[in-house]
Amino acid sequence: MQVSPGEIYERYRLGADWFNRQNPSLQAHRFAERCAQGALVLEVGAGSGADAKFLRRSGLSVVTTDIQSNVADVLCAFEHLPFRDSVFDGVYARGVIHLCDSHMAQAEALRVLRPGGTLFVSYLLDIITDGHRLDVMGVLTWGDVSKVVIEKTSIRRDVDHVHQVVETMVIK
Ligand SMILES: C[S@@+](CC[C@H](N)C(=O)[O-])C[C@H]1O[C@@H](n2cnc3c(N)ncnc32)[C@H](O)[C@@H]1O
Repeated sequence: MQVSPGEIYERYRLGADWFNRQNPSLQAHRFAERCAQGALVLEVGAGSGADAKFLRRSGLSVVTTDIQSNVADVLCAFEHLPFRDSVFDGVYARGVIHLCDSHMAQAEALRVLRPGGTLFVSYLLDIITDGHRLDVMGVLTWGDVSKVVIEKTSIRRDVDHVHQVVETMVIK
């Protein structure tokens, strides 16, 4: 059976509810472990703000952004962050870069991060259902950073499809 991209996204949306219900997420735990107490951190595409709450409870100073939100501190697109260069000790973006112009967003994340700061992004790579594969985005490459701490792709099974999520942590 041929499945349209629209149907695939609808199926993914069911999985996305599960994704958004993780409170806080495993990725937030991993990011918090790498940041020093009091670090100034930017969360991009913060959604409900669940991870930001956890990051604050973990002793980080967090500024949240989203393109649309009732809870974000700043409303802006990932591709155009209204912050000066090299101001944040960390940038955290879970489940958002694949919804943007990913290369512009990547460049913006690195621009606002101070040298030695930590950037964590996790994003949806593809969706596989009924034997069809829908590429959501290509894997980002990280040539201009001093260190790649984590770069892994994991398979997740949702209601009736499988998708791959990439998780990357780099040091500027
Ligand atoms: C799948 S949700 C992830 C929310 C949260 N980070 C989490 O892990 O639960 C994607 C979020 O990205 C936001 N978003 C979509 N496009 C964006 C863009 N270009 N710039 C900033 N945020 C964007 C959406 O409004 C939404 O809140």
